[in-house]
Amino acid sequence: MRRTIDWADGAIEILDQCALPHEVRVLRLTTVDELIAAIRRLAVRGAPALGAAGALGTALSALRHRDEDAVRADAKRLADARPTAVNLGWGVRRALNRLPEGPQFVLEEAMAVLDEDERVNRKASERAAEFLLDRCARRPLRLLTHCNAGRLATVGWGTALGVVWHLQAAGQLEYVFADETRPLLQGARLTAWELGEAGVPYRLLPDSAAASAIARGLVDAVVVGADRIAANGDVANKVGTYPLALAAARHGIPFVVVAPMSTVDSQVPSGDGIVVEERAAEEVTHVAGRPVAPPDAAVFNPAFDVTPADLVTAIATEDGFFPLE
Ligand code: MRU
Repeated sequence: MRRTIDWADGAIEILDQCALPHEVRVLRLTTVDELIAAIRRLAVRGAPALGAAGALGTALSALRHRDEDAVRADAKRLADARPTAVNLGWGVRRALNRLPEGPQFVLEEAMAVLDEDERVNRKASERAAEFLLDRCARRPLRLLTHCNAGRLATVGWGTALGVVWHLQAAGQLEYVFADETRPLLQGARLTAWELGEAGVPYRLLPDSAAASAIARGLVDAVVVGADRIAANGDVANKVGTYPLALAAARHGIPFVVVAPMSTVDSQVPSGDGIVVEERAAEEVTHVAGRPVAPPDAAVFNPAFDVTPADLVTAIATEDGFFPLE
């Protein structure tokens, strides 16, 4: 299966997530500016995929410039392209650390980031699948997920959807409820597409219907990815995740986060220190390019929210369960 992001013949190739699900289009990015623009418009997105983008972008710059300062300046611009997913800066730093050895070593490190991605996410999601099989009495399982934490949000495999692939292979999955994920519809455009391609039975639902689906007993567990996990276990993920954790707690079902260790930010003590990206008003006032709100409507459009650790049942990583008090 094609990787979401890869290095090919001296350039970065990404599956254009703005074109899905209507068109499977590969974009070839030959400059750091093109990559930053692709990150900002979410043509490449999802925390682990952003880690790979940061590493490959740094390699691209190292191979283009002789001047180390120019590479470091590109690296900073890349790391700052979006503020919330910690993986972006992590990928940049990993690649940049090899700069003194020469540009080929920067690329080697970036390729190591890509190669590790599927392995660690398979491990983390397998751990989460086993946890759910242990915790939930009903068989087969009915899961609810938010945003896209699948193959498209990683280099391959996925995190929350990795749990789906494991359960499906084990014959232990009944269906997935996929939140559409307003306003940019990563659930409707990307998760529904991935589930359909994999032959997983799913139902797409408005974000606002998720709590009532849980209340009606239609969901055994909520499974999501993460963009940044603070040292105390608070979890930043796509806006709309926190209400799912509240609903899961109210109705006594597990709320499970699946993420690689590269999503843990031990420098940030709690969710209060996580910078939440604010995105353009047009994402809310317009639908498919058409205005749906008064032209002067004031808008609140945070791209992420923070779920406090006490609402999280488990955080599964490749190294084990992240300690929650
Ligand atoms: O704004 P996005 O689409 O980059 O947000 C992505 C998410 O919130 C994902 O849930 C998260 O990155 C985990 S992906 C494995």
